Amino acid sequence: MPCESKVVGAQLVSSTPPLGGVSFRPSRFYNEEMALGNKIEGKQIRLRPYLPDDIDAWQKWNIDPEVQKFMPEPANKPTSRQEQLKYLEECRVDEEGIYWTIVDKTSDQAIGSIAITEINRHHGIGELGFFVGEKSYWSKGVITEAIGLVSDYAKKHMGLRRLVAEYENGNEGVRITLERNNFTLEGVAKESRVKQGKPIDTTRYFRLLK
Ligand SMILES: CC(C)(COP(=O)(O)OP(=O)(O)OC[C@H]1O[C@@H](n2cnc3c(N)ncnc32)[C@H](O)[C@@H]1OP(=O)(O)O)[C@@H](O)C(=O)NCCC(=O)NCCS
Repeated sequence: MPCESKVVGAQLVSSTPPLGGVSFRPSRFYNEEMALGNKIEGKQIRLRPYLPDDIDAWQKWNIDPEVQKFMPEPANKPTSRQEQLKYLEECRVDEEGIYWTIVDKTSDQAIGSIAITEINRHHGIGELGFFVGEKSYWSKGVITEAIGLVSDYAKKHMGLRRLVAEYENGNEGVRITLERNNFTLEGVAKESRVKQGKPIDTTRYFRLLK
């Protein structure tokens, strides 16, 4: 997904900052509840802001070809821990995005990410992006639940009224999760991306948050 957010509050800073005691600033898109360190709780997952502790998980996900298969090029794959930390921080200070790490509620393990980017407050719109990086969690309802949680948050706390999501044709898992969350097909964007040198089509879904 494109880069995506920012946050803080002492609670949101890693207990063991990996690179020189780095801390993050909070995003203006997180409400007071989030800034105080509370999380979005689901049945099997919890959504929380990015933390420096997420570096190792991201570095693993970035080099997994199965996880990256449907990601847009050019792949955003920081190679060093320093670059990865910079990426996470850039997401967290993104003026037009809000990003969460998806965490297994039981084990507290980071298993993926979901974000709303391209936020436009005037128009009340944003774009969803997500993935599950831990493959043992695929097809367990993680993204179906995460989309529902984030859609509710976007409506109740951000005042958004329309979300879109776009995926590379053939990514059936994404289509299914969107339709299960009442997203509607908007259309196919012919040759809207290039993959390994060839133009490919993407499909766009939308949901009005009523
Ligand atoms: C695709 C992805 C987002 C789906 O997330 P998830 O948490 O596994 O999805 P869910 O379990 O909520 O639901 C997916 C459903 O689609 C099904 N599914 C997944 N891939 C499928 C495929 N290729 N063909 C048919 N059905 C598929 C799953 O079996 C599941 O249905 P079920 O509940 O009836 O078993 C996740 O697997 C992923 O991140 N994959 C790799 C990276 C990626 O493609 N990210 C999205 C880039 S836009």
